[in-house]
Amino acid sequence: MIGFIFYLCGFLFLFSLLSYIIPQIMISILPEQNLKKRYGKSWAFITGGSSGIGRSLAFKLAKQGMNLIIVGRAGEKMENTVHEIQTKFKDIQVKSVFADLSADPVVTTQAVLQQIEGLDISFIALNAGSGVPERMSRPNAKSLDLFHLNIVTHQHLFNALYPQLAKRPKQNNSKFRGGVLITSSANAVFTAPFVASYSAAKAYQQHFAECLSLEAKVIGIDVVTVVPGGVATRFHIDAPPTDIKLPAPTNGQHPDAVASRALSSLGRFVECDSGLMPFGLRILAKIFDRNILLKIMMAVLPKTSLITPYVDENGNDRDAVYPESSNSKSSE
Ligand SMILES: NC(=O)c1ccc[n+]([C@@H]2O[C@H](COP(=O)([O-])OP(=O)(O)OC[C@H]3O[C@@H](n4cnc5c(N)ncnc54)[C@H](OP(=O)(O)O)[C@@H]3O)[C@@H](O)[C@H]2O)c1
Repeated sequence: MIGFIFYLCGFLFLFSLLSYIIPQIMISILPEQNLKKRYGKSWAFITGGSSGIGRSLAFKLAKQGMNLIIVGRAGEKMENTVHEIQTKFKDIQVKSVFADLSADPVVTTQAVLQQIEGLDISFIALNAGSGVPERMSRPNAKSLDLFHLNIVTHQHLFNALYPQLAKRPKQNNSKFRGGVLITSSANAVFTAPFVASYSAAKAYQQHFAECLSLEAKVIGIDVVTVVPGGVATRFHIDAPPTDIKLPAPTNGQHPDAVASRALSSLGRFVECDSGLMPFGLRILAKIFDRNILLKIMMAVLPKTSLITPYVDENGNDRDAVYPESSNSKSSE
């Protein structure tokens, strides 16, 4: 009997492992989807298309002959990307839409929509994002703005654009109206200190994409959520300043690799991991359930230099005294 239970557990674990690994290997082998062929000549809407993963995606879609709407803040990154794409791909149109997605979500969404009115959008890539490490006992002032960027404004944009996509006629006998790509993060899979707001925002996006995919499939819309580990982009360079020092990521994957996996996964698998980090974390999550993993981390992390109480320049434990001193200040 014990032997049977042992074999059964082994079989279930193997099954669980293969059901993760096989789709991820297939994504590596299968070719990138051609969006122009799949959805017809039309516009791709890419937030964060001026840099990193979004920029790689923009170049790939331009090569396929898709017109591009690139959303980002005004500046050199946007100027250079649009100029390079226009110079290299003469047969497509590129429209830059300047917007700070961390500002007021309603106003920002209206401003974006006005600039793209009437364009036949077949692909929505919600990719722009930023994160700031913070102790939740001392939240970073930028954190709530980034919450707008990572979740709220993107949700407003999605709510405005997706109903139009759902009504978009299918082109050239295609079975598909269009697609949605959402850039999540390995942080959505893994529980880590000092990145609670960012990680939770990414988990929201990933779960949103998974749920959406079920209803989208019925009306001929592809949904993919790409889950990258460390990527060699401006993400960490452009992150807002913080007093938290996390280990700098090394050997990040190239953003082209992330964009390539996302396009290979589109219409085939909803969840697309990219890089060794999400791969390792998923396997770890299969071995240890959340409660046990949290217990292990709570025991191990305080023994490392990664997580220590915040001590100010005079050696005072500021996390402990901060609430008291702020109360006493306000009552003065
Ligand atoms: N790099 C990584 O290690 C990593 C890992 C996992 C997931 N990700 C995710 O991947 C996505 C793309 O990041 P990336 O690595 O490609 O970084 P990136 O090179 O810094 O690109 C970020 C893009 O987002 C745009 N953006 C940032 N803040 C914005 C704002 N307030 N308003 C409008 N656009 C804004 C940037 O445009 P402007 O600055 O020109 O406005 C830029 O085009 C993000 O969602 C990020 O969370 C990154």
